[in-house]
Amino acid sequence: MSVPPMSDVIYLDHAATTPLDPDVLRAMMPYLAADYGNPSSVYGLGQTSHAALDSARSTVATVLGCSPAELVFLGGATESANLALSGVAWAARRRDPAGPWPHIVTTTIEHSAVLETARWLGSLGFGLTLLPCDAEGIVAPDDVAAAIRPETCLVSVMLANNEVGSIQDIPAIAAICQERGVPLHCDATQAAGSLPIDVEDLGVDLLTLSAHKFYGPKGVGLLYVRNGTDIAWQQRGGGQEGGRRGGTENVSGIVGMAAALDRAERFRPAYTTHCAGLRDRLLAGLQERLPDLTLNGPPPGPKRLPNNLNVILPGVQGETVLLALDMEGVAASAGSACTVGRNEPSHVLEAMGRADAETRTSVRFTVGRSNTAGQIDDAIDAIAGVVERTRLLAGVR
Ligand SMILES: Cc1ncc(COP(=O)(O)O)c(C=O)c1O
Repeated sequence: MSVPPMSDVIYLDHAATTPLDPDVLRAMMPYLAADYGNPSSVYGLGQTSHAALDSARSTVATVLGCSPAELVFLGGATESANLALSGVAWAARRRDPAGPWPHIVTTTIEHSAVLETARWLGSLGFGLTLLPCDAEGIVAPDDVAAAIRPETCLVSVMLANNEVGSIQDIPAIAAICQERGVPLHCDATQAAGSLPIDVEDLGVDLLTLSAHKFYGPKGVGLLYVRNGTDIAWQQRGGGQEGGRRGGTENVSGIVGMAAALDRAERFRPAYTTHCAGLRDRLLAGLQERLPDLTLNGPPPGPKRLPNNLNVILPGVQGETVLLALDMEGVAASAGSACTVGRNEPSHVLEAMGRADAETRTSVRFTVGRSNTAGQIDDAIDAIAGVVERTRLLAGVR
């Protein structure tokens, strides 16, 4: 099978992952080669790695507005969310082993990293409430307030949704959680680079990030844990990360994440303008060529990530469109539920009240730094052409 060379691919799947920024790679290179020491080693080579970790930690802390000691580096957003939910839930159980099982509040539109962890904890005996969202994928802060019980140990609400780009009012939810004395975890994985992620402004107690979503390397992420949050650490071992996450640190990955986050934050104003312009151009072009297209999620504006477009293309299966687009050199996604070997209707679109047929004909396009207006125009032609041909073949009009 011949795959178009990467330089020819119109990559519109930046919510899935982003290319590694060449400057980030440059920052990582020494720790992949000459400076290979183990940060726990006492000799110079080890201390060079240790110093690189310290420096990365303080760079990230500056962006998040927290203290370096409140950061735990780990293997990505999935590990981070698992640790946040399991760690806080088990700590609450440990505080009162004979009392009622602690209760977790989260939402129906979370990424599976949160949702599956919450369901697993629910299957073990923890209480679980999954909050609904409205037709645009927004969760009502009042619903959070109504769900909190005396035994609630954690609320977890994502900042921006990975499928439809809807942005939650985290400061309002945080105010409710603070008033009720319940810690708030926020999965901000899709937000870094697009939205401010200062933990004080958001008011969160725990926050999750994954480097490859903001032009950093894959397999490295972090969990911010506010000082004083009771959490049962899940990974025992050699005492790394202050005994909170055992295992030799991914030095080059952590250095890369810090460099990427620093750059994402500095480029944020230009990046959001660039992405919103391209996303709006894509939407307008598709609406002109395919007038029966429907937008999933909030209209472009303050409640939607600037790089996200998710549309229903009536009469064509999302997966069919994606495969045909791949042949034309356009990479897109049908949402996180449609992955290789798995084609289930999107739980996010379902939660927003979309019918099964609508979820199966939805496609997500997420633009990024290197996309150009010319690429968007070519993508509009390719998408409209694929949809028109597929409808013709299927006899759909
Ligand atoms: C909102 C959100 N949370 C968590 C994750 C999991 O990230 P990772 O695969 O890097 O662990 C993703 C990845 O798509 C995501 O979009």
